[in-house]
Amino acid sequence: MKQHAPACDRNQSYILEILQGILPGKKKLLEIGSGTGQHAAYLAPHFPGLSWYPSDLEENLASINAWRDESSVTNVESARALNLATGLWPVTSCDAVVCINTIHIISWELVEKLFTGVGNVLSKDGVFYVYGPYEYENESLSESNVNFNEWLRQRDPASGIRKFENVNELARKNDLIFQFDKSMPANNHSIVWKKN
Ligand SMILES: C[S@@+](CC[C@H](N)C(=O)[O-])C[C@H]1O[C@@H](n2cnc3c(N)ncnc32)[C@H](O)[C@@H]1O
Repeated sequence: MKQHAPACDRNQSYILEILQGILPGKKKLLEIGSGTGQHAAYLAPHFPGLSWYPSDLEENLASINAWRDESSVTNVESARALNLATGLWPVTSCDAVVCINTIHIISWELVEKLFTGVGNVLSKDGVFYVYGPYEYENESLSESNVNFNEWLRQRDPASGIRKFENVNELARKNDLIFQFDKSMPANNHSIVWKKN
């Protein structure tokens, strides 16, 4: 039941630091692509006033719920099914969305659906946080991300590291205003938008 991703152990404390700057005062958070469920179980207890709604493809829900049930966390809801391909979202409104290490896994068509959905569910001044590797205009990718990108594309040609400028344009089209982009360990980035 309970799956384990070593990357979560490595990145969760850095992600927490960023979320501590943007989540205070927020009440309802939707996590997209919750994966094993480790991030929800680790991060949510640091924000006691917040209800954390994890979500993912149906096959991952058991692990997410197992991480929740085997911890003492009290503010994580049971995991909801969310397949971005369907356009059917498990919440109709919230004031925060997080999406960790997922944008480079899904196709560009699904990235578009992701931003459309986030634009629809976020209330005014709600925040959208993404974490992962990005490529930037006029900057070459690190060698490790070049290799990672090749590995991703061999596995699924529709996946791959996205260009920040393209993602930010999608955000703009969905009324999400860029707030900041912080470099993180292992050539990752934390990027935040706010709903207009
Ligand atoms: C690399 S994992 C990241 C998981 C977790 N956020 C983490 O950091 O460990 C990518 C996640 O995207 C999810 N995913 C893939 N396709 C999806 C889709 N169509 N809709 C929603 N989630 C999807 C996968 O199930 C997986 O949990």
